[in-house]
Amino acid sequence: MAPENIVFGAGSVEVASRIILAVTNPGDRVMFAWRSFEAYPLLVTTAGAVPQPVPLAADGGHDLPAMAAAVGSNTRVVFLCNPNNPTGAVLSSAAVDSFIRSVPADVLIVLDEAYVHFNRDADTAVGIDMFRRYPNVAVLHTFSKAYGLAGLRLGYAIAAPELATALRKVAVPFGVTSLAQQAGLASLRAEDELQERIHVLVAERRRVHTAMLEAGLPVLPSEANFLWLDSGERTAALAELFEKNALSVRVFPGEGIRVTIGSPEANNRILAVARHAAALLAPQH
Ligand SMILES: Cc1ncc(COP(=O)(O)O)c(C=O)c1O
Repeated sequence: MAPENIVFGAGSVEVASRIILAVTNPGDRVMFAWRSFEAYPLLVTTAGAVPQPVPLAADGGHDLPAMAAAVGSNTRVVFLCNPNNPTGAVLSSAAVDSFIRSVPADVLIVLDEAYVHFNRDADTAVGIDMFRRYPNVAVLHTFSKAYGLAGLRLGYAIAAPELATALRKVAVPFGVTSLAQQAGLASLRAEDELQERIHVLVAERRRVHTAMLEAGLPVLPSEANFLWLDSGERTAALAELFEKNALSVRVFPGEGIRVTIGSPEANNRILAVARHAAALLAPQH
C-alpha cells in the first residue's frame, strides 16, 4: 500500500468522523446497518449529516439488499461493519461485491474492519481487496482491538488519494501522539505475539460459543472478539443475572447482550451462569 493511501488518526473512530466531515454537506445522508457500532449515528449528526440506519437481517448480519434499495440521491456514505459490532456477523465477499456494484459510483463505501484480525470466515469480504477493486471504497483499521492499544488511540483509513488528501485537510494537527506512533511500530514488530493472542482468542470464542449453544442460549455465530446473545425482550432479566454474578457485559435493552471473550478464567465464569441464563430466556407459560 502506498503511503499516500494511508491516513492515521486518534483511533479509527476519529478517522471515521473525518470521513463524514470531508464527504458530506449538511443534510446529506450517511447509511449504516442498525444495530451496529454505536458511534456511527453520533458521528453523523455531529457532522451535520443525517443518519440513515437500516435494520439488520434476522441473523444479525447486514441486510445488503435493503441497504442497496434505501440508497437515495442524498446518500453520500455507507458504512459496512465487518465483522459487525455487536453481533459478530460477517459480510461475504460476493455480497459486498454485488452491493458495491449496485450503488452509484459516487457513494463512498467504508468497510469498517475494526475486528478484522479475529475474522476466520473463508468467504468474508476483504477490505483491501475491495479497495483495490473499486475507487469508491475506503477501509478503516485500528490498533485498539487485536493489538490492545485502545487507550493510546491509533487507527487509520486506507483511501483513494483524493479522499486521503481531504482527510488530511480536516485533521486536527498532531492528533496522533508520538507515544501512540511508537506503540504502533512496536506492535507491528511483534507479529508472532499478535498471532498467538488471536489464536487463543479464536479458540476461546469457539469453546464459549459451543458451550452456550449446548446450554440453550440464543447465541449467534461470531467472527469478532465477542458473542451476541439475542435475548430480545428478556434482555433486562439476563442483564440482572450477569450483574448479580459480577460479570461485566454490554447490555442493549430490549435487543440483546454482547459478551466479550476474555481470559479462559473469565469465560468460565460466564459459562458458569449459562444454564441459569438459558432458563431465564425459556418461554414462560
Ligand atoms: C466497529 C468499530 N469501529 C471502530 C471502532 C473504534 O475503534 P478506535 O477508535 O478505538 O480505533 C470500534 C470500537 O469499538 C468499533 O467497534
